[in-house]
Amino acid sequence: MGRSGVWNGKTLSKAEKRSLISWIKKGYSRLKCNQNLMEKYGRTVDPRNLSRFARQEKLTFKATNELDFSTKELASVRGLWLIGAPQRRLALEAGKRTLNSVQKKITRLRATGAVADGLREEIKEELRAGKSSASIAKKHNIAVKFIDEFKETEKSSTIEIENLKRWENTDIEDLLDFIEDGQKRLKKMDAEQGEANIKISTTSKYVALMFLSDIHLENVNTDLRGLRRDFDIIKSTKDFYVGFGGDLIDNFIVGPHKEGVIEAVIPPKAARIAAGKLFDSIRERLLWTILGCHDAWDRDYADYNLPEHIARKLKIPYLGHGGDINLTVHNKKSKKEQLYNIHARHKYRGSSGLTNGTACCKNVLRNIDPKFDIVAISHNHFAEIKIEHYLRKDRVFIRTGSYKKEDRFSNMLGFEACEFDSQIPVVILNTATKDMKVISGVSNASDTLKALNR
Ligand SMILES: [Fe+2]
Ligand SMILES: [Fe+2]
Repeated sequence: MGRSGVWNGKTLSKAEKRSLISWIKKGYSRLKCNQNLMEKYGRTVDPRNLSRFARQEKLTFKATNELDFSTKELASVRGLWLIGAPQRRLALEAGKRTLNSVQKKITRLRATGAVADGLREEIKEELRAGKSSASIAKKHNIAVKFIDEFKETEKSSTIEIENLKRWENTDIEDLLDFIEDGQKRLKKMDAEQGEANIKISTTSKYVALMFLSDIHLENVNTDLRGLRRDFDIIKSTKDFYVGFGGDLIDNFIVGPHKEGVIEAVIPPKAARIAAGKLFDSIRERLLWTILGCHDAWDRDYADYNLPEHIARKLKIPYLGHGGDINLTVHNKKSKKEQLYNIHARHKYRGSSGLTNGTACCKNVLRNIDPKFDIVAISHNHFAEIKIEHYLRKDRVFIRTGSYKKEDRFSNMLGFEACEFDSQIPVVILNTATKDMKVISGVSNASDTLKALNR
């Protein structure tokens, strides 16, 4: 019996004909009739031939939308060949769908595979066993082209993961807002400032400003006796102030030169506490703090910063690696005041040149700003202070020295302890006119200041 081509219904058995007539009368669709035929007699008939049969019997199929059958139902009659022009035509006749929607539905049915699960496995097995498409098609009463299509579908198998977590749907604008908000909040917490305006009001004509740095407190070679003596002098001398340029403790344990720790008399925590107490003692004299390279190891490895901590505690500016200090010295008696522009930092380009130690100070004037009256650079542990007429005005250039007399590194470079000039540089500033006097050593500076203010 043919599934297509010319067919006059003569091959139907009497029983089949009777059943068909009763189903058509009941208003069953062509598809439903085919489904019933398959269930009852194990065969199906081309719907066009069903229509012809109905006409012969002077019956008509009710106009139903054949496509409303589920994929499963469609598959159950193994009538894959139903999907095509005849069905499209039937659906259009029913007047319920546009050609486009019918086509879409057909495509979907085809795409989802209008083959029952059991049958799919059966066909797969047969294909694996090497049976031809034609023989499989014949066995299951399916057009060969659908077997070939099935083979193609199997070849292009796909994987579907239902619950795969995707990042593409992240709201990026929301994320960027979050970052911006976080930046604002963090910056609010940051104590670092590039510029500080400081005003000292006094009844004296002169004030002294010591450029202190590179204490390396816990080191076995640090002149702690000299440091404590100088602090005592500062505390007992009116109008004596201090700016700190970094390297408060050695801190070797967190740095890249851990071998340096063998020079430590006390561990870093104790050194931090001692240094903090020491700086507490010059509260009201200390004007700013700067981050040294040894202090920066804490910042880099532990997000902690001792000079910043001290600045917060003493409520003075913390200038990071360095910054501008606009220092106004005001005489309450004479009502006169002078502004001194200072730039202080731990390191600067050219700071390691021992033969011309203050060359880096001139680099600051050239590269950062030519306005500064005083430029002070720390880090290299040698002291130098000079007043020089440079770029049309008097300037003070300072290398801040150190209380650490020697270390393994300096010994390696061939320096002896006695070669280090520990005379800490001090500048005496006049409140009445722009006038700077340079002094080496805290004790000398104290005596000079007292004499000048007498
Ligand atoms: Fe240092
Ligand atoms: Fe340093």
